[in-house]
Amino acid sequence: MKEQISSKEGLRSLPHFPTVLIGTGTGEKSNLITAAMVHVFSIDPPMIGTGISPKRHSFSLLKKKGEFTVNVPDKEKLEELKGCGEVSGKNFDKYEKFGLEKEESETIDVPGVKEFPLIIECTVEKNIETGDHLWFIGKVVNAKRDEDFDRSDTILYWGGEFREPGELLE
Ligand SMILES: Cc1cc2nc3c(=O)[nH]c(=O)nc-3n(C[C@H](O)[C@H](O)[C@H](O)COP(=O)(O)O)c2cc1C
Repeated sequence: MKEQISSKEGLRSLPHFPTVLIGTGTGEKSNLITAAMVHVFSIDPPMIGTGISPKRHSFSLLKKKGEFTVNVPDKEKLEELKGCGEVSGKNFDKYEKFGLEKEESETIDVPGVKEFPLIIECTVEKNIETGDHLWFIGKVVNAKRDEDFDRSDTILYWGGEFREPGELLE
């Protein structure tokens, strides 16, 4: 017998989302936002979308530049990941505040996070308005990762909890 749950609880029950830092803005104005609303929107061509609320400072940076980086942390960077989701970059530099270094991108002007093992560069192709978030759908124009990148050493976000990927089933 299943219990009836609210629509919001249905969303929260969905198995994990990846949690990443989305890089926006350029130069001195480069910013980082913690985002769990991240998904693959097409495999060919490769497209990634991220849902950003208009309330965020990152929203206006994304609207202005139309480029972003998807920076995937390993478990050691949990505090930095949480921190970038608690404060706004409107008034200060989050790279400096959280001791992260900018890594120049290969194809776009927005930098990535040097200490993170996977960086994907995207250019915004379209926006989709849904409800309280606007989806920025980006074409993947470059991707790079550490040679020893380990998918299981990443962070997931599930209904308010940070988790790590579980056992391999098959
Ligand atoms: C785990 C976690 C996931 C988050 N996911 C999103 C998200 O997908 N979209 C969004 O707009 N905000 C998300 N937020 C909130 C922003 O990260 C937060 O409001 C941040 O301070 C905004 O920074 P900014 O004003 O510099 O852009 C998330 C926060 C946390 C802690």
